[in-house]
Amino acid sequence: MEKKITIAIDGFSSTGKSTLAKQLANHLGYVFVDTGAMYRAVTLFAMQNGYIAANFFDKETLINSLPFIKLVFKYNDALGHAEMYLNDENVENEIRKIEVSHFVSKVAEISEVRSKLVEQQQEMGKDKGIVMDGRDIGTVVFPDAELKIFMTASPATRAQRRYDELIAKGDSITFEEVLENVEERDYIDSHRKDSPLVMANDAVEIDNSYISRKEQFELVLDLVNEHTKSL
Ligand code: DC
Repeated sequence: MEKKITIAIDGFSSTGKSTLAKQLANHLGYVFVDTGAMYRAVTLFAMQNGYIAANFFDKETLINSLPFIKLVFKYNDALGHAEMYLNDENVENEIRKIEVSHFVSKVAEISEVRSKLVEQQQEMGKDKGIVMDGRDIGTVVFPDAELKIFMTASPATRAQRRYDELIAKGDSITFEEVLENVEERDYIDSHRKDSPLVMANDAVEIDNSYISRKEQFELVLDLVNEHTKSL
């Protein structure tokens, strides 16, 4: 039997990390974890409780509330993937909204938030056989992951993808607004003090501006096969 490995997928926002991670997990029979959903759920909690709003952020109260934030992924058979539950409520749709995207990088800067989520992520991946996507998976969460992928694409390509997704979901938003959000999050995520978005030294970089999802999947699957063979 082939040994199971840990696959870390990091990169800039809207590079299709979760799509690739989901495809790989389904193909390999691995667990898929979208860690961005966890940071988004904590952000939604802060918004629902009035701890964060335009020009206002009560970090202290959010930090003190962390023990009361329960995050669980539950698999939805009909959809074929897991959905995020915040304190037993399905928040999968809400956490994807642009309002949450506006605040999430500020919440993700807080070390106390990061250490709580990283601990939970490490627990989820302790038996390997996992594909986890985020910003710090190959550098902080699983520095010993057998395979690390770092995904990039031009900001305009990424904003167009996110814009198409949001429009398909019925959001009314402009392309410029999405591009601004993508660029702002890239900046904050790459410049924060705790666990900034950087490529791990041993990661394989994939710029998917001009390759199809299918080509990308096949390329990464070859890498997975190489890594599982060498075990
Ligand atoms: O992957 P995403 O766009 O849904 O992530 C939302 C935000 O969460 C992103 O702007 C930065 C933060 N994040 C993080 O800091 N570390 C992770 N492992 C995953 C996401």
